[in-house]
Amino acid sequence: MASSISDQKFISLTNDFFSYVMRITDSGQLEHVYYGPTITVSEDLDLDPRVERALCSVYEGLKNENLNELSMEYPCFGRSDYREPTLKGRNKDGNSIFSFEYHSHEILEDKPTIRGLPSARGGMSQTLKLVMVDKYLQLELQLFYTIYDKHAVLTKSSKLVNRSDHKIILEKIASSSLEFPAGDYDVLHLHGTWSRELNTERLPLARGRFVIDSKRGSSSAAHNPFVAVLESDASEDHGKVFATALMYSGNFEISLEKGEYESIRVVTGINPHDFSWHLEAGGQLDTPEVIHVFSSNGLRQMSHTWQSFIVEKVSPLRFKDKVRPSYLNTWEACYFDVSSEKVLHLADRAVELGLDMLVLDDGWFGKRNDDTTSLGDWESDRDKFPEGIAALAKMVKAKGLKFGLWFEPEMINPSSELYRQHPEWVIQVPGRKASLGRNQLTLDLSQVAVVEHIFSLMDKHLSSCEIDYVKWDMNRNFTELGSTSLAAERQGELGHRYILGLYELISRLTEKHPEVLFENCASGGNRMDLGMLSYFPQTWTSDMCDPIGRLEIIHGASYLFPMDVLAAYIGPSPNHQNGRVTSLDSRFLAGFFCGARGISLNEADIDANLEDLKTYIQKIKSTQQEMLGGRFDRLLKRDNRVSWQFTTRDQSKVYVLCFQILSATNLPITRVRLVGLEKKRKYRLLSEDKTYGGDTLMHMGLTFPHVSAWNKTSSIRRMDGRDFTAYLFELNRI
Ligand code: GLA
Repeated sequence: MASSISDQKFISLTNDFFSYVMRITDSGQLEHVYYGPTITVSEDLDLDPRVERALCSVYEGLKNENLNELSMEYPCFGRSDYREPTLKGRNKDGNSIFSFEYHSHEILEDKPTIRGLPSARGGMSQTLKLVMVDKYLQLELQLFYTIYDKHAVLTKSSKLVNRSDHKIILEKIASSSLEFPAGDYDVLHLHGTWSRELNTERLPLARGRFVIDSKRGSSSAAHNPFVAVLESDASEDHGKVFATALMYSGNFEISLEKGEYESIRVVTGINPHDFSWHLEAGGQLDTPEVIHVFSSNGLRQMSHTWQSFIVEKVSPLRFKDKVRPSYLNTWEACYFDVSSEKVLHLADRAVELGLDMLVLDDGWFGKRNDDTTSLGDWESDRDKFPEGIAALAKMVKAKGLKFGLWFEPEMINPSSELYRQHPEWVIQVPGRKASLGRNQLTLDLSQVAVVEHIFSLMDKHLSSCEIDYVKWDMNRNFTELGSTSLAAERQGELGHRYILGLYELISRLTEKHPEVLFENCASGGNRMDLGMLSYFPQTWTSDMCDPIGRLEIIHGASYLFPMDVLAAYIGPSPNHQNGRVTSLDSRFLAGFFCGARGISLNEADIDANLEDLKTYIQKIKSTQQEMLGGRFDRLLKRDNRVSWQFTTRDQSKVYVLCFQILSATNLPITRVRLVGLEKKRKYRLLSEDKTYGGDTLMHMGLTFPHVSAWNKTSSIRRMDGRDFTAYLFELNRI
């Protein structure tokens, strides 16, 4: 069934996956009626009754129109609703009352874009535009809802237009509010920090408010701008899941509130903390898009929807299905100690290993011998690269490799020529000494001149130098948030204006250089959101390259992100972050399902592992295409064991990866049951030359390889009896 929007007695958005129903009440409120599996929206729906409650106020004196109990589409404070509002601010009279009633609506075949902000692509979709007005304040609120034919996705955003001749001061403007009827729900979210990004936490939603947010300037690893509200008995394969992700890379807030009548309200948008916006007469403000995913069958189905939607509608189209070059990155091989000689040597090694690309990471510009200096001075260090970067790129490419380069364009070291010339370009407040993060400050992207400067310097490099790939890094949280170019009363606009500047910058660059593969990075996964991923096709997942450290990160990432967008490399052992010693095999396998893969090893490491590396790189290359557009499944995560499945897009190949974290002896037999196979087809297990039915693999499964240091019985499937081992099953559908 195609998606449809009906606007009879109820306004309902329906496709094969869900229905989302609203209605306009007699008092003009936009009431939320239903969100869940597809239903027939007929004349009669058994609506929530208007119950008379003690100690409640009623809207405009209307009988029992108690907004505190009503499920509202875009709730505002102060007219009998005491829960978290979508909008806060001061109107022309200085009070905080905003109040919208239905005005009109239309159904659009084309999904509108959002001014200055990224949004999911339309196509086989329909959009509802609802207009609400605050007649007294002469404000117009536009709410946009898009529903797709082929995805269990609803996108929402809001826009406020000031049609009065007074300015208003906004202190909050959310993109979306969702309401769930009274019941028991859990929340699942992704939290973390540097090198431990995307950890998963699931909690029961208790009374009160549970908030995840960022006040750091970027979406950050502390909380990804993503939550899933689950029926409390929902599991991987059962139960309803309602997920939300904000397509925004700056300060955000997702507030989940269980009110006094036990319904849940989820309000998502730009973080109101330290936010204000002067909406001048005639002005308008657009909010970032929220993407809601519905699953009626648990978390697995939710993840599949996110994975395919991001590939089809969010990730840049020009890189869809394009193989991601395998690469050697200089970072953990050389750190700042790079030079022409070293890079060219490593390029030779990359050729010898069969890799596609050499990536020159940090250390190539200014006087960048450590992280105290030179961000901002993006000219090559002639002591390290006498011939310059353009010539180096040519030499690398003459060897048959692609060439990639690291930049951190949004940042500046106080010890830099740029800082000496333009101290006013830095985010700062008067009278306070700046806090440094990794010895650096943040350039103020709310300033047109700063965006222009970064654009022209990046454009110059990309035009004059044969660069195939850019690693776009960002290595600090914001502090002392203030701009030299904004008036005192507008300082609260800086956080959002920064993100608007960033989006303008990266959209201009990616449009002008469509062939360049940009990788999103922020000390690893500190800005891993759908905003960045709508411009950049892949992301550096984490600085944690130890395979065991990565397990949790990939597990968490898989709730939301397709493997297409994740980058992984084989790093050194002992690992440089946690010191863990692991085999090359485990390091290779932990990142095996990622779209972009490579190595970051020095020459001694390469020499010590040459033949194995050649085999692994051959494997990366022969699977480059099939790692795109496939399906990732979490099969097992218990005690010391983790198992994942990856099924190629055409479903002809299935990989099952098993990790034994710590070795143990005399373990019970564990079965790994595969998912999503064709039950009537047969699958050949390559390593054992055996054939199993799809139904058998799904219901009976395969045994998790036996772990033992002493029992070497050759007839059983075994893993080495040591810590941190991995095993890969490869199955071909026949
Ligand atoms: C960040 C990145 C690393 C590396 C360094 C270079 O930490 O996440 O991969 O590029 O910066 O300084």
